[in-house]
Amino acid sequence: MDQFKIRGGRKLNGEVRISGAKNAALPAMAAALLTPEPVHLKNIPHVRDIITMAKLLAHMRCRVESPDIPPSAFVIQAETVSLAEAPYELVKTMRASVLTLGPLLARFGHARVSLPGGCAIGARPIDLHIQALEKLGATISLDHGYVEARAKRLRGARFRFPKITVTGTENILTAAVLAEGETILENAALEPEIVDLAELLVKMGAKIEGAGTPTIRVEGVPELHGAEHTIIPDRIEAGTFLVAGAMAGGELTLTHCAPQHLGSVIAKLRECGVDIRCNADDPSILRVRAPKRLVAADVITEEYPGFATDMQAQFMALATQAEGVSRICETIFENRMLHAVELMRMGANIKIEGNCAVVTGPTPLTGAPVTASDLRASAGLVLAALVANNTTTIDRVYHIDRGYERIEEKLCDLGASIERISPGRDA
Ligand code: EPU
Repeated sequence: MDQFKIRGGRKLNGEVRISGAKNAALPAMAAALLTPEPVHLKNIPHVRDIITMAKLLAHMRCRVESPDIPPSAFVIQAETVSLAEAPYELVKTMRASVLTLGPLLARFGHARVSLPGGCAIGARPIDLHIQALEKLGATISLDHGYVEARAKRLRGARFRFPKITVTGTENILTAAVLAEGETILENAALEPEIVDLAELLVKMGAKIEGAGTPTIRVEGVPELHGAEHTIIPDRIEAGTFLVAGAMAGGELTLTHCAPQHLGSVIAKLRECGVDIRCNADDPSILRVRAPKRLVAADVITEEYPGFATDMQAQFMALATQAEGVSRICETIFENRMLHAVELMRMGANIKIEGNCAVVTGPTPLTGAPVTASDLRASAGLVLAALVANNTTTIDRVYHIDRGYERIEEKLCDLGASIERISPGRDA
């Protein structure tokens, strides 16, 4: 398993290009199952989860081609899907494989998708995906760890999500587009990734209104066609680089990002004293400059447009360097604090109180061997290591490779010292 060896204490300066959003690209790739025609997707990030989704589609006998290496675009054609199945081997490495359930069921009338197990950040059930599909007329059974779903043709219905779910909203949206009649989804997720998916589906011929609001209306159509779509920028990668700039800048310029999706992160960083500026000539550029002194701020994670749970670990790393007490509360996942213990091993002053971490700063951090527990936790540890004395070794960086494109190369280009150590590779 690869490790990162990070020598801390270097100032970051320069320009970084933000990649396409993993969490928008994954449902877009699954949506290609809805039509026999080719779907062209651009601005695809080259990260492990995308490769897993490409493998899953290939497993179903879809054509998945990319004009370049590493792939930044895909042509996906689901003309001949002979296996409407997402096997355990792939689902266990990526829960988002479950996004194929809705499109497979809607187009082929049946789907067999392995139930994802629990994961490091919480139990993460898919009961709401199943309830909503049943409301649309699907017959669903659980068999040997698999969800077996059948429906001759799904029927539009009204469904209110009892709890907001991002992939749940995406799964049902991609099912409802081919259902007979009107579907109304209430208490839908508002994330920009939902809006991006709806834009792709509309280009494919779907009839959708209200994406990005709590109520989404879908008028089902008998079939969809091919389309071309550019994936939105990754707001979590951008947020991570904003925190990097705030902690270890210098001054960073982020290009190809979408500041309009970063409202609560930018507001929170400004509250901490960070100077973040938009560019009047080019709205896809943000500049961040580290302040002389970071000040503490409280955070509660919330669904969009609130402060994203996917930015919580990175903010905790920043809070260790901010003056005062920051109370960071996680409300989306029940177990997303494992990085706190690793930060403490680096010298952070953190007390865990239920689902909150109380961080008192600033404390000097010292390099230590630490272990990444999930994708965003790894990002938090990388950020802490950038400002730590001496060398930090981060184990299990495959977690970070799932969702960040070449993070060590991007940070090294800005002045960081990060070495990837791959066992078995000659030193
Ligand atoms: N939930 C249920 N039942 C369901 C679905 C969700 O109880 O059927 C609960 C979850 O257990 C959780 C809450 O609802 O407590 C919200 O979960 P949600 O379904 O919104 O999460 P997700 O769709 O599985 C996506 C992102 C995550 C991100 C969350 C929250 C993708 C592929 N994943 O997950 O991204 O943290 O929304 O914003 O879009 C990441 O990129 O590192 C990541 C984990």
